[in-house]
Amino acid sequence: MKILAIESSCDETAAAVVEDGRTVLSNVVATQIEKHKIFGGVVPEIASRLHTENISAVTEKALLDADCTLADIDAIAVTYAPGLIGALLVGVGYAKGLALATGKPLIPVHHLRSHIAANYITHKELKPPFMCLTVSGGNTLLCRVNDYTDFEVVGRTRDDAAGEAMDKAARTLGLPYPGGVNLDKVSKNGDNKKYAFPRPRVDGCPLDFSFSGLKTSVINLVHNAQQKGEELNIADVGASFINAVVNSLTENTVKAMEQYGESTLVLAGGVSANSVLRARMENEAKTHGWKLYLPDLSLCGDNAAMVGAQGYYEFLKGNVAQMSLNAKATVDIAEKTSIC
Ligand code: KG4
Repeated sequence: MKILAIESSCDETAAAVVEDGRTVLSNVVATQIEKHKIFGGVVPEIASRLHTENISAVTEKALLDADCTLADIDAIAVTYAPGLIGALLVGVGYAKGLALATGKPLIPVHHLRSHIAANYITHKELKPPFMCLTVSGGNTLLCRVNDYTDFEVVGRTRDDAAGEAMDKAARTLGLPYPGGVNLDKVSKNGDNKKYAFPRPRVDGCPLDFSFSGLKTSVINLVHNAQQKGEELNIADVGASFINAVVNSLTENTVKAMEQYGESTLVLAGGVSANSVLRARMENEAKTHGWKLYLPDLSLCGDNAAMVGAQGYYEFLKGNVAQMSLNAKATVDIAEKTSIC
């Protein structure tokens, strides 16, 4: 089954053709990074306008690269939630138009479910059940993936996402957008013990995360140094900060794996590209004897191939949308698909 997938939840306009959920025939991503860089972050209205401008060309290229026409496509999948609402609406409206014009089924895909599905492309043998740590710019959660469309959240952030904290720390240190990637790069040779950041804990909910205190403490550190005219070593601050975030992600993941007796761990989302997080989880997997699956670096960020992968399993489950499908800024990953 060939699915044409569309993604526009944030600042990448993307389209892909994916066969049977696992084989990527094409994967086109038009990134808007350069346009948002001067503002230090994503400007939602600019993102929506750029999606509107680019979505047709990106989709045409995805069909061309896959050596397909719309006639060869069996269904249209689209990210409908969560994300920037104006940005999502562009993809949803466009996908509805395609589905209406071709008479093909329209498959609604949850953005975080698709991040997890990036692993089905990278690891052909991977099948649920497993534990997944999803770390992206807008979300941080630990969930049990009981089946391809059956998710149980066991821990989540109470405030900021890990990616958001990374981006804010990077910006405070004067690094350009996208912050997390640049923070990872400049921190490579930094001393990760140089600065002590707080160890965030959520009382009574040991699997939940909190990153806002960490974010505030890096901002305070930088502002205090500026006021005193002190020079900070960016690599050391960055390495210490990343270490604090990764410690928190790792500690909760270990607890969750033990509490639920899981032996397979999957990482997903933009922050799963972080070199320190990947190395730390590889160590933990060795120590505890887990099977660890990491998405290919090219599939960690937003793309439409992962939407096509998850879309396939949503379709098999009967999750097909009507023409009343709407975009939503927030939807829980575990919510049963009652879309229309
Ligand atoms: O999953 P994603 O592409 O978009 C969302 O769905 O949110 O994640 C983007 C986030 C950003 O916060 C970005 O800074 C972070 O992932 N990120 C990284 C790295 N690469 C991307 N954070 C830390 N280290 C990286 N190498």
